[in-house]
Amino acid sequence: MKTVGIFLMLLLSAFALFAQTPGNDITRLIQSGYSERAYSTEPVTDQQLDLILKCGIKAPSARNLQAWKFTVVRDEPAMKELISNVTPGNVLIIISGKESETGTTPDFDCGLAAESMFIAAHSLGLGARIYGSPAGKVNAAKESYQIPAGYKAVVLLRIGNVDKSVDGVTAASPRKTTEEVVNFRK
Ligand SMILES: Cc1cc2nc3c(=O)[nH]c(=O)nc-3n(C[C@H](O)[C@H](O)[C@H](O)COP(=O)(O)O)c2cc1C
Repeated sequence: MKTVGIFLMLLLSAFALFAQTPGNDITRLIQSGYSERAYSTEPVTDQQLDLILKCGIKAPSARNLQAWKFTVVRDEPAMKELISNVTPGNVLIIISGKESETGTTPDFDCGLAAESMFIAAHSLGLGARIYGSPAGKVNAAKESYQIPAGYKAVVLLRIGNVDKSVDGVTAASPRKTTEEVVNFRK
């Protein structure tokens, strides 16, 4: 009887081991995540927002110039002007790059900050989506969105609590295969 018990335990452990996706929490988070479009009205807390912004600030940048500014928009009418289907409780972070920064890559740096905040939001159990198209609207009315002088909006990050009725597996967009994207120089 005891031998059967031990055998079953070993079998279960082996199953648990093989059932695990390889990697760690971060790689699994990146590989299972997607850009949510559907949110609930549960608000993002100040604590969550603060942590997400700190992760953006920690992003790498060319020559560590950190030539970015993050403008937080929480009021619904202003958010709706930029993303028509925004949900109350969402937060928009407008990520702007320094205009006069020549010889470096503020747009690229802003992209990295956006991605760091995107991953941070997901790690907190929130949803997130990066938006490029509303940046033009922001830049056409910089004062109204309070973009600091000398900066232009590059991308926006929308964060919020996910609408739990959406199936994350079917909502995710497919990616190209490793063979299509990666080549190893021989
Ligand atoms: C730089 C950038 C700009 C984007 N702009 C928009 C946008 O304007 N509107 C939108 O709905 N999604 C936008 N997206 C989200 C992408 O469409 C989305 O990440 C892509 O389709 C992959 O989907 P997934 O992240 O859900 O897997 C943008 C993403 C990036 C990185």
